[in-house]
Amino acid sequence: MENLEKLTNEVGAPIADNENAMTAGPRGPVVMQDVWLMEKMAHFNREVIPERRMHAKGWGAYGKFTVTHDISKYTRAKVLQPGAVTETFTRFSTVAGERGAADCERDIRGVATKFYTTEGNWDVVGNNTPTFFIRDVHNFSDLNRAVKRDPRTGRRSAQNNWDFWTLLPECFHQITVVMSDRGIPASFRNMHFFGEHTFSLYNEKNERVWCKFHFKTQQGIRNLSNEEAAEINGMDREYHGKDLYEAIERGDFPKWTMYIQVMTEAQAKSHYENPFDITKIWRHAEYPLMEVGVLELNRNPENYFAEVEQAAFTPAHVVPGIGFSPDKFLQGRLFAYGDAQRYRLGVNHNLIPVNQAKCKVNEYHRDGAMRVDGNYGGAPAYTPNSAGVWTAQPEVMEPPLALEGAMWHYDPKDDPTDDCFRAGGDLWRVLTEDKKKILIQNTAGDMASVTDNIKYRHAVHCYLADPEYGRRFAAAAGLSMDKVEELSQLGHQGLIQATLSATM
Ligand code: HEM
Repeated sequence: MENLEKLTNEVGAPIADNENAMTAGPRGPVVMQDVWLMEKMAHFNREVIPERRMHAKGWGAYGKFTVTHDISKYTRAKVLQPGAVTETFTRFSTVAGERGAADCERDIRGVATKFYTTEGNWDVVGNNTPTFFIRDVHNFSDLNRAVKRDPRTGRRSAQNNWDFWTLLPECFHQITVVMSDRGIPASFRNMHFFGEHTFSLYNEKNERVWCKFHFKTQQGIRNLSNEEAAEINGMDREYHGKDLYEAIERGDFPKWTMYIQVMTEAQAKSHYENPFDITKIWRHAEYPLMEVGVLELNRNPENYFAEVEQAAFTPAHVVPGIGFSPDKFLQGRLFAYGDAQRYRLGVNHNLIPVNQAKCKVNEYHRDGAMRVDGNYGGAPAYTPNSAGVWTAQPEVMEPPLALEGAMWHYDPKDDPTDDCFRAGGDLWRVLTEDKKKILIQNTAGDMASVTDNIKYRHAVHCYLADPEYGRRFAAAAGLSMDKVEELSQLGHQGLIQATLSATM
């Protein structure tokens, strides 16, 4: 008689013995005929899939996004209309560590949210910092190589890390954030997160504005010191995952308020720096935060691998009313994620339930490995077709964008408005004295094993951001202030030349 609670093989046939291999005689060898044993071993050998190249360690939860304020004059997106409630899935991650890394490392945190909207999935794939280290796609794989393992030793290397960061001065603001008290959040619930890039919004009249997305924690900001984090990592490497899971299980649902900043196309043209440079902030005093709604996380996944490990987010997933921008870093990401997921999960990864849209999908893609739905049955497989099946929807076309300039490999540092130190200096000046102390201690501690030439490079950047920042870091790192001042006169290339050698 059928018993649903009993062991079967992968096609449902009952299994008689799951403990004792079939052997030729009581002390003889295993026989090939133990096909259940072969199936079990073969499946086990194929259970590991590639981890995400970065952001490998993560935790996720479902939730809902409720719009509380009216921003319809900026966007036609249904998910952003007043009163709209949309189901979501969010994954939090560290960046540099592998899948088994400890949660409480000093690192930025990724936060990716999938909004299952009635017009298709919209993914906000951001971090807990308002800007990023670098701004050119070319540098992205190198950033990851620098912060991940050294090819010779197989160990993480502060020397590689700081060498790379200080050779690209645009990293400076982000380094200041990562080395500050915010570099190790107390929990995912206690941090803000940001879309970082400039995106666009366009309304029913097809009028475009540029926009940034911010999600501010309603739980308040709380962070860990290096000492607290070291102790926690020694006891519980899954500390942040546990915190999120347990809060949701006890009904203490974490919430974030979503805001946007808006810049008109005309304002962007006369902005004092490139508004599409992800290493720059838009000052709140100039571009105020406008409240939009609340994201609440309220349901834990039933299965980690199925729902968290197989989740696939991409900034390329936008819906009508939300668009991209000329940010060249964003443009690179539009390719990278889907490509990575076709490798990591397969070409049909959007059929995995956590990734599936909740609205009807008619995309003409057919076949491919693991096509486990009906593959659109007998519907026409080509377009245009005379049956008029699945025609394009020109009414959702975003407004055209005029671009200017010749095609070239532009270096933003050649732009006279480019200032890599303004945001870091602004941040230093608003820090309270105790936070300045923490920043200096963390930086000097993190750089303890790094050679002096690289410390000088960083000291000069601190000095250019704010002379006090430079003086205090130089003192903490045991550097000569005269030398820092001398090097600060050299300009970017001169500084690099003067600090290339560890025996400078
Ligand atoms: C050109 C720059 C970048 C490239 C090429 C890039 C590429 C990637 C790739 C290939 C993955 C793994 C995707 C997967 O296997 O599912 C990933 C994950 C991720 N990236 Fe980026 N990335 C870039 C910049 C950024 C920036 C600026 C942010 C934040 C604003 C960001 C946030 C994330 C997050 C949160 C994840 C993990 C998503 C998840 O939880 O599944 N990345 N990135």
